[in-house]
Amino acid sequence: MAARRVSSLLSRTLSSSLPLSLRKGSSCGRGLSRFSSTASAIEDPIIPNVDIKHTKLLINGQFVDAASGKTFPTYDPRTGNVITHVAEGDAEDINRAVAAARKAFDEGPWPKMTAYERARIILRFADLVEQHSEELAALETWDNGKPFQQASKSELPLFVRLFHYYAGWADKIHGLTVPADGPYHVQTLHEPIGVAGQIIPWNFPLIMFAWKVGPALACGNTIVLKTAEQTPLTALYVGKLFHEAGLPPGVLNIVSGFGPTAGAALAGHMDVDKIAFTGSTETGKAILELAAKSNLKPATLELGGKSPFIVCDDADVDKAVELAHFALFFNQGQCCCAGSRTYVHERVYDEFVEKATQRAKRRTVGDPFKSGIEQGPQIDTEQFEKVLRYIKSGSESTAKLECGGQRFGSRGLFIQPTVFSNVQDDMLIAQDEIFGPVQSILKFKELDDVVRRANTTQYGLAAGVFTNNLNTANTLSRALRAGTVWVNCFDVFDAAIPFGGYKMSGIGREKGVYSLSNYLQVKAVVTPLKNPAWL
Ligand code: NAI
Ligand code: MG
Repeated sequence: MAARRVSSLLSRTLSSSLPLSLRKGSSCGRGLSRFSSTASAIEDPIIPNVDIKHTKLLINGQFVDAASGKTFPTYDPRTGNVITHVAEGDAEDINRAVAAARKAFDEGPWPKMTAYERARIILRFADLVEQHSEELAALETWDNGKPFQQASKSELPLFVRLFHYYAGWADKIHGLTVPADGPYHVQTLHEPIGVAGQIIPWNFPLIMFAWKVGPALACGNTIVLKTAEQTPLTALYVGKLFHEAGLPPGVLNIVSGFGPTAGAALAGHMDVDKIAFTGSTETGKAILELAAKSNLKPATLELGGKSPFIVCDDADVDKAVELAHFALFFNQGQCCCAGSRTYVHERVYDEFVEKATQRAKRRTVGDPFKSGIEQGPQIDTEQFEKVLRYIKSGSESTAKLECGGQRFGSRGLFIQPTVFSNVQDDMLIAQDEIFGPVQSILKFKELDDVVRRANTTQYGLAAGVFTNNLNTANTLSRALRAGTVWVNCFDVFDAAIPFGGYKMSGIGREKGVYSLSNYLQVKAVVTPLKNPAWL
């Protein structure tokens, strides 16, 4: 009977082509301190039958224990159950990983290979990921809590596409011949920087891996990457695949561990030539300080956001509601670029609020392995409690709570899709990054006014504009101080489109051609010309 239930669940919830069997309930340990409850808001969580092979640090092409021998648990955010224990890297492990990356850079073969050889390895890696993509998507959902359909149908294909894109760049990176005011032959060489330190967050573990590792490798650098403590598993899996694809030892080292220990050791390391980070603005500042106080390594930072989503009076309200809903609630609201200030023109405001509320009420929350589920749990207790604190602050203000406002279910880390209307710019929920499923709707009348208000924030990561008027779209696109403006669309993350922030949302751009300069030095080579007559 139980077995029949499992198999019918499998066919009901996942595509029949899925090469995974699923079992229900977990034999793993129970939840520890990061979770306020050991039980789930869902009765019988679907557990993917993924064989977790890699839980150690990947240093110099080998999986090794932490020098301290310590491990830490990684949790299933649906339940608080421990999925497995992972080696806990610290400063000494970072030293070992940096030494391996240093040797692989200084002695080769990676930077000395032809760019075409490097591209071939990256392409082979992308093919291997494609072959293992269902299992990787399941592991991503298990560790992170995001809907399986999203991981498998959108994030894994994008991951593969990003590596195809960067493989394509590898043999097209070159310098210029520069005219000078004298008898000189001048050329620039575009060289890899050296050892890149990379620190990634938990909200898109694989995508963040690709944004960082892709350009660094294409340019010929070697890497020490620290994963987020909440989601260490998929990076180790793909790290193994990279070596199967022929990546030489020491080129890509992966250290699982915590921020103030492993992360800080990496950012402050004297032998790391460049640091790249995605996460909170607060931690970004700490990393910049560590970079400055050590060897003045350049930093690329992709930080927080409070992106406006502006719905103009000519908008098709139904379409605007759907897009604004997606812009905020996607990935449990855990997106740096989430459209978390929904500005709506007063002429369509009431209709918008009514329909946005109905849409949020229809949002399906539950086990992210089930098809049709749009929203899984928040990543951990810290984030869950942070979101509930912001909801409380909104509820105690003059904003109107239209729906949600509570945890979803009686236990676990699920939060009801929440909508506030009548939100004012100076409220905490309109100023801070909530990073959860909480939509704040504000009213505006004049375009100039909404531009000023939208720009009155410390952040400048992204903005959404919804209008049928080309002039309005052009005006807003130019006036908004943000690294991305999505017009009548949102969260379009093509490999070639640059992404990054103005103001305190960061420094530098990832993806696209702009990302390459983060990982390149420019060398000018000047040679006197023997016969100036031929200038
Ligand atoms: P965080 O910025 O502290 O952590 C992100 C990464 O930085 C993790 O790998 C962490 O281990 C590492 N880290 C933390 N402290 C460090 C330090 N002193 N030195 C070096 N590395 C360090 O973000 P956290 O604590 O996970 O979330 C806090 C808030 O940050 C969220 O509520 C959200 O508002 C924001 N956030 C933004 C993200 C984005 O995509 N821009 C992603 C994750 C969080
Ligand atoms: Mg933190």
